[in-house]
Formats: sequence, C-alpha cells, structure tokens
Amino acid sequence: MTRKHRIIQAGPLSGSPTANARLAEAYDVVELWKFDDRAKALAEHAKGVTALVTSATTGANAELINAMPDLKAICSWGVGYETIDVAAAHARGVQVSNTPEVLTDCVADLAWGLLIAGARRMGEGERFVRADKWGQVHGNIRLGTRVSGKKLGIVGLGRIGEAIARRGHGFDMQVRYHNRRARNDVPYGYEASLVELARWADFLVVATVGGPSTRHLVNREVLEALGPDGLIVNIARGPVIDETALVAALEAGKLGCAALDVFEHEPKVPEELKRSENAVLLPHIGSATVETRLEMENLVMENLKAFFETGKVITPVE
Ligand code: DGY
Repeated sequence: MTRKHRIIQAGPLSGSPTANARLAEAYDVVELWKFDDRAKALAEHAKGVTALVTSATTGANAELINAMPDLKAICSWGVGYETIDVAAAHARGVQVSNTPEVLTDCVADLAWGLLIAGARRMGEGERFVRADKWGQVHGNIRLGTRVSGKKLGIVGLGRIGEAIARRGHGFDMQVRYHNRRARNDVPYGYEASLVELARWADFLVVATVGGPSTRHLVNREVLEALGPDGLIVNIARGPVIDETALVAALEAGKLGCAALDVFEHEPKVPEELKRSENAVLLPHIGSATVETRLEMENLVMENLKAFFETGKVITPVE
C-alpha cells in the first residue's frame, strides 16, 4: 500500500457536500483549524508538506505560507482569491489554484434572482403573506419596478459579469459595462466612468473581483448617480461597495434598492439594512447549489491530484 501524501487543510470546507471526507480519504490531512496554537502545529507538522488546501473564506496569508518551508501548491476552494497572498506565494515559487468556471452560472442566476426580488419587492411580499397581512386581493402592497426592457449596467465584465449580461437578452435589456479596460470581444457598450454607467442604468450589478484594487469602487457618488429609482445588486465582494454610504443613500431615499449576497464585514449585516424594506439580503450563497459545490470540490481534488502527479495544478491563478 502506498502512503498517502500529507497535506495541510487551513479551514473546514463545510459549504461543500463531501469535500472534507474526500480529502481525508485521499490524503493524510493535518486539520489546522482544529489546533489552538496554529504556529506550534505548523512547526510540528509543516516540514515536508508540499500542498495546502484552503478556501476563498479562510484564505492563506504570508505568515501561513512562510510557515510551510516545503510548500509548492495552494489549492483553494472558491473563485475569489483576495484572501490569499498570491504575491507572497508566487515570490516563493508556490502555485495557487482556485475553482473558476464551475460556479459562473449559479452566481449569475443568483444575481438575477436578487435583481428581480429587489425590483418586484418579493421579500416584502413574502413577509406580508407570512405575517397574515393579506387582507384583500391587490390591496395595501407597494408597487415594484418593471424588470423587462430596462437598462442593465455591469461593474466588472469577467466570466460572471458576462454570464449576467447574457441573461439580460432574455429580459430585452440594453446592457453596458464598466471595466478597467474595454473589451473588443463582447457586444455590450463600454462606460469608462462608473458614475456615468450608474447614471445611465436602471439596475447596476457588481460582479468585479474583490481586494484592495476594488475596495469602495462603488461609493456615494456612484450610488447617488444610480438614484432614487435605481437598484444595486452585489454578488461579488462586500467591500467593493462602501457600505456606510450605501446605508446612508438608502435611508435618505437617494438610492431605490439594494439586493445583496455579500457584505463588507460578513457575517455582520448592518441593522439599518435588516430593517429596510428596500433591501434584499442573502448570506453569501452565490455558489451554494448541490451541483456547483460538488463541482468546486471536484476541482480542488483534481488540482491536488494533478499537482502530486505532474507537479502542476490545472487551474492556476496567474
Ligand atoms: C467564491 O467562490 O469566491 C465564493 O464567493 C465563495 O466564497
């Protein structure tokens, strides 16, 4: 019997159906999050270990990377990698892999779910029915906003942004986008100014990467340009929107609605948002379907296997 490779797993992959069990079956796993003294655990177990498994949530900072002297690959569960110090990894020649593509459709679907839920006031309607307030047919419920035929602005036209844009055709929408650079391979209009995109759009969907380069990209000026009838959706990362400015704009009626799957300080959600009937709030579930979560864990397993067999991960972060 061949000995299992030892790996270090930084955090539990509890959002995935069978990932922890599959890792434990295939590898000799050091479950780092179970140790009270992480530095001591690393000093004891990291020597000789070449692979680290983590997630978009748990990440891997430079301290962890540098505490693993023989590390060669970090295999992460999730598409976002702003919690991983990729520069520190690459500086040491450590490959980093994530799980792109497999979650694109589910995240795009959820963006549309949020958009429609916000525009059509579905959360409010649901609460209304559950609270037994439905006294008369077509009575005392606030009117929403038509979705079809409106103007859709996408912030960040990567894989997920593009999948969201494509779905806009089915709703007869005009679509424009804001990116660091214009793309010449898409049929959508480019807006170099995010404020101008927000002024033009009825609905603005945030689908950009997270991290320092996009922190508070959506600020007060952008939110107010979207305006009192405008709706913002965020399925990307909470810090892309200045949450304080968002709460202020909603409370002052300068923004119509916010439909959010991500927050600046997860899992904390501002009380003002919880109280607002102009907010739709979800607990970061963009990729949370059985099919997608399974494909994410498959990709982590495939990256690990490829690394141990060939020395190279298959979906590297460049
Ligand atoms: C991702 O894949 O990055 C998701 O947001 C999970 O955190």
